[in-house]
Amino acid sequence: MQTINNLVSLRDHICALRKSERIVALVPTMGALHAGHMALVAQAKALGGAVVASIFVNPAQFGVNEDLDAYPRPLARDQDMLAAAGVDILWAPPPAAVYPAGFATNVHVKGPSEGYCGAARPGHFDGVALIVAKLFNQVQPSHAFFGEKDFQQLAVIRRMAADLDFNLRIIGVPIVRDTDGLALSSRNIYLTADERIAALALPRALQSAAVKIRDGAKISSVLEGGKQDILDAGFQSIDYFSLVDAENLFPVECLDDRPSRLLAAAKIGKTRLLDNIPVL
Ligand code: PAF
Repeated sequence: MQTINNLVSLRDHICALRKSERIVALVPTMGALHAGHMALVAQAKALGGAVVASIFVNPAQFGVNEDLDAYPRPLARDQDMLAAAGVDILWAPPPAAVYPAGFATNVHVKGPSEGYCGAARPGHFDGVALIVAKLFNQVQPSHAFFGEKDFQQLAVIRRMAADLDFNLRIIGVPIVRDTDGLALSSRNIYLTADERIAALALPRALQSAAVKIRDGAKISSVLEGGKQDILDAGFQSIDYFSLVDAENLFPVECLDDRPSRLLAAAKIGKTRLLDNIPVL
């Protein structure tokens, strides 16, 4: 695996790869890799072409009081994991190569960016859409892989790619969970032992709400009950616990034949956890 830090060299390598590979799959990450990221890499590898992974802790998607400086950056360990998984190129640019002096562009995706994490983290999805659009231009992949754990992010990226005519397929990969059901996240390392146990209330509440909704219970009451269960387990606050249309993220008040998804974000200790599950 080649680790590349500058754009000229990346373009040369991609150009060389394209001579032999029709498929170039991109797996964008911010590093601190776990089994959830490696599931993206495995699916990218399964396409049978070349795989480019990126690691960039993107300042544009962190708010002023968020954990940009503290965000884990175990680069050598991440490189070993990606190389062992058969990644061809690791694109790991320094911030100044991505956002040079004078950088002035924003990418705002209306609709799916609004509400949910977009309300709790103003500007976050502009930063995500910006870096992903840049990565698509830099790598020019035929396929790009994103985890369904950040379900709103996936909806924002799909909208942005369609609106800006990126010629690639975006593939959402199901959430990878620990054996006890907690969704894997680079931020789980911030949980204390007690918080880690209490955190299980989040996937449990989603699971139980999905069953009740499928069984025909009143959606608003199920959502209120789910929130209460999460607070009772020790979470301090809930940003949202909502049933949405899986494509446009509009709130769902009664089930129809369109795919729907329960989305949740809640804070335990200093850590904000996200999770979601399909309902229909
Ligand atoms: O999901 C992430 O790790 C990041 O938001 C992404 C898509 C790599 C953009 O920085």
